[in-house]
Amino acid sequence: LQQRDLSTNHQEEKDVKVTLGFAQVGKESGFRAANTSSIIAAAKDEGVNLKLKNANNDQEKQVEIIRGFIKQGVDVIAFSPKVEHGWDEVLQEAKNAGIPVILSDREIEVRDSSLWTSFIGSDFVEEGRRAARWLVNGRKTPGKEVNIIELEGTSNAAPSIGRKEGFEEVLHDHHSYRILDSLIGDFTYRKGKEMMAAALARYGRDIDVVYAHNDDMAIGAIEAIDEYGLRPGKDIKIISIDATKKALTALSIGKLNFSVECNPLLGPQLMKSVKDLKAGKEIPMKIITSEKTFTKEEAKQEILMRHY
Ligand code: AHR
Repeated sequence: LQQRDLSTNHQEEKDVKVTLGFAQVGKESGFRAANTSSIIAAAKDEGVNLKLKNANNDQEKQVEIIRGFIKQGVDVIAFSPKVEHGWDEVLQEAKNAGIPVILSDREIEVRDSSLWTSFIGSDFVEEGRRAARWLVNGRKTPGKEVNIIELEGTSNAAPSIGRKEGFEEVLHDHHSYRILDSLIGDFTYRKGKEMMAAALARYGRDIDVVYAHNDDMAIGAIEAIDEYGLRPGKDIKIISIDATKKALTALSIGKLNFSVECNPLLGPQLMKSVKDLKAGKEIPMKIITSEKTFTKEEAKQEILMRHY
């Protein structure tokens, strides 16, 4: 009898569905595709009623989507903000409507931090530091000048800002490293390739290192270097962030030199937070995902387990 009562309660709990409105930023990268799939799968597993819309990398569209969710009266709103600024008004509207907001993967700058409830994602500054530490620690010819091309992500987006900051912080004390140019590749393969081709046309063989803020741009850069007639990974060293299967594959064959992980699989943690909020529980203001880095040998092992 006791067991039957318990299962009835469990059933009742399951029947109270929580509705999550998720405003995804875009479809710019392999990371993003894996992130979207993780959210869809976790919502299904956890019985969360997910309303997911994609803003195609347009901030106005993302604001419009969030407004739509407020109008529909969803229980919780989550979104991956395209850029750090410009959210005060719409998040104030969500607050006025009593809808808690979770920041997924990217943080924001707002006047009033009570406009959002929790952030789930990575430490982007630390990712930038990890990339630079590998570079300075692996140095073979002390004193020789090292010329770097930085391929930046979307302008004013939290990962672009953080990754630049962390990288420069470490290089600050190492004077022979010089960032020749920082070019906006918008986190896409196409722009990464285009920017790298432009950098090669301008600086040619002076380039020693490419620091790409994500894998898609790094893959584009690898192709541009190949087409220019230099050897990616040998003539020009390449460091990238995300550690998707494509990047780990390039790393395992020596076309990429170091990979810093940025974990896109945020769905399970997001659904847990959404359900906790619905149940009236307090949730942590920041939930930072744990991440690794990969060298060539480590990549060969990791590829077997990587699904994205
Ligand atoms: O916000 C995370 C970044 O966004 C990923 O590193 C990049 O690939 C994506 O587009």
